[in-house]
Amino acid sequence: MVVPPTPANLERAAQIIRSGGLVAFPTETVYGLGANALDATAVAKIFEAKQRPSFDPLIVHISDREMLQQVVREVPAVAEKLMARFWPGPLTLVLPRLEAVPGIVTAGLPTVAVRMPAHPVAQALIRKAGVPIAAPSANPFGYLSPTRAEHVERMLGHRVDLILDGGSTLFGVESTIVLLAEKPVLLRHGAVPLEELERVLGTVALQVEASEKPLVPGQLPQHYAPRTPIRIAAPEEVPSALRKRVGYLAFREVPKGFKVVKVLSPTGNLLEAAAHLFEALHQLDRLGLEAIYAEPIPEVGLGRAIMDRLRRASA
Ligand code: TXA
Ligand code: MG
Repeated sequence: MVVPPTPANLERAAQIIRSGGLVAFPTETVYGLGANALDATAVAKIFEAKQRPSFDPLIVHISDREMLQQVVREVPAVAEKLMARFWPGPLTLVLPRLEAVPGIVTAGLPTVAVRMPAHPVAQALIRKAGVPIAAPSANPFGYLSPTRAEHVERMLGHRVDLILDGGSTLFGVESTIVLLAEKPVLLRHGAVPLEELERVLGTVALQVEASEKPLVPGQLPQHYAPRTPIRIAAPEEVPSALRKRVGYLAFREVPKGFKVVKVLSPTGNLLEAAAHLFEALHQLDRLGLEAIYAEPIPEVGLGRAIMDRLRRASA
């Protein structure tokens, strides 16, 4: 059931979390499917609802620094710097975990991924629930991430106790993930661009390449995928006979001859393009097209996260 985030509905949602149920909620990146992170049985429901493999650990969402103490053993100095600059916001930090965090949340890893979302509805829900909330993106495993409540409703509506509707999400791509080992390592391109991290950290090591034995499943070569086959190609690379039968996801200009076209940002703005990415793919995917072609995006700033998602969607 989709409801607006009124104080009464937030109270109801918090109650569902506290009693071990599932609530889908908006964040500034994508919608999350949340459960009490300290309740292993509640967290198991997330895996069941998403058909998510148990080796894929979850991100724990907190409302404040006090809550961080409930899940993390220590906060290295570099992490402090990143939190000061990017929290609350779309940056997830992988830190040494406390025993209190059930193994199902972290897939048995000695670390836990934590983020403090900036979205007021996410903030209010966590604060009212009074517990950290484990939440992956609210989509079936491997499928497109949801950027609107109706995406969640359509994909997982029957498996969630409540969906809080906060409208379209701001960034439209997931949080950036950084592992704080001896040196910081970027595990997933996301809403905080690499360039911004480097302004705080200097050079950052990357471990985001697609691999069959990924450190994190966002690194699986195929992920974030629509049901319709998707390929990355400039418009002129698509033969005109084929254009009539397929959809095109364009960056800024409408190319000629395609059956249907979605434009991510007419002004060529990467923030706007990221915000529209999954929405456009959801729409194209519902048309039953033979294939979707997507235009390559410049790989700077948020363009890296967009291309990362397109590559995995097309793998
Ligand atoms: O923007 C986001 O991060 C959204 C919203 C809901 O907050 N959440 C999200 O969650 O994208 P999910 O489950 O789709 O992606 C979480 C990623 C996974 O690839 C997971 O493997 C990685 O975080 N992860 C979680 N715990 C980890 C750990 N201890 N070490 C390394 N990676 C971890
Ligand atoms: Mg996901």
